[in-house]
Amino acid sequence: MKKTYKKKDFPVEDIRKYLEPGPTVLVSSRWKDETNIMTMGWHTVMEFSPSMIGCFITGANYSFEMIRKSKECVINIPTDDLIDTIIGIGNCSGAEVDKFRQFDLTAEKAEKVKAPLIKECYANFECKVIDEHLLPKYNFFILEVVKAHVATSPKFPRTVHYRGEATFMISGKNVSYPGRFKPQNL
Ligand SMILES: Cc1cc2nc3c(=O)[nH]c(=O)nc-3n(C[C@H](O)[C@H](O)[C@H](O)COP(=O)(O)O)c2cc1C
Repeated sequence: MKKTYKKKDFPVEDIRKYLEPGPTVLVSSRWKDETNIMTMGWHTVMEFSPSMIGCFITGANYSFEMIRKSKECVINIPTDDLIDTIIGIGNCSGAEVDKFRQFDLTAEKAEKVKAPLIKECYANFECKVIDEHLLPKYNFFILEVVKAHVATSPKFPRTVHYRGEATFMISGKNVSYPGRFKPQNL
């Protein structure tokens, strides 16, 4: 028999913790001579080809104006060895702190954007802001990934997923179902 659940009312402003969309990422940016990094939990794939990502960045974040003005950023995928860094970066502002220096991270030159890659991350996706229509009303950036750098191993990195309430889930067990997927869903 399938399982059912007893439920209670829940504050709608807190439901995001049940919708964590994927790995927590570090978003690096550059505007003029300044670089910055923010932690981001809420992003979504919007299209496969061209490769598009949508993300919400509150206007209170220093990164917001840096990315809006430069129209570029890099989405970096950290692994569980960087949890302290992920928390630290998400709890201070580039307005006060040079985060590359403070968190001892290495900025590498990207190929197609001026924003730096974070060398210590498993993957780096160079992104351009391709649509600003949803920015004024929703602070929602639509990005196109124009270049991707991914580590050759491991195949399944131990990414970090934010569950709210100061709790992360670390990706672990994989379950595979070969032959059960349509090719376009692989
Ligand atoms: C786990 C985690 C996830 C976060 N996700 C987001 C997010 O999706 N969007 C956002 O605007 N801020 C998010 N934040 C908050 C920013 O990372 C935080 O405000 C940061 O200090 C902004 O840095 P900045 O002012 O230098 O841009 C998150 C923070 C943490 C710790």
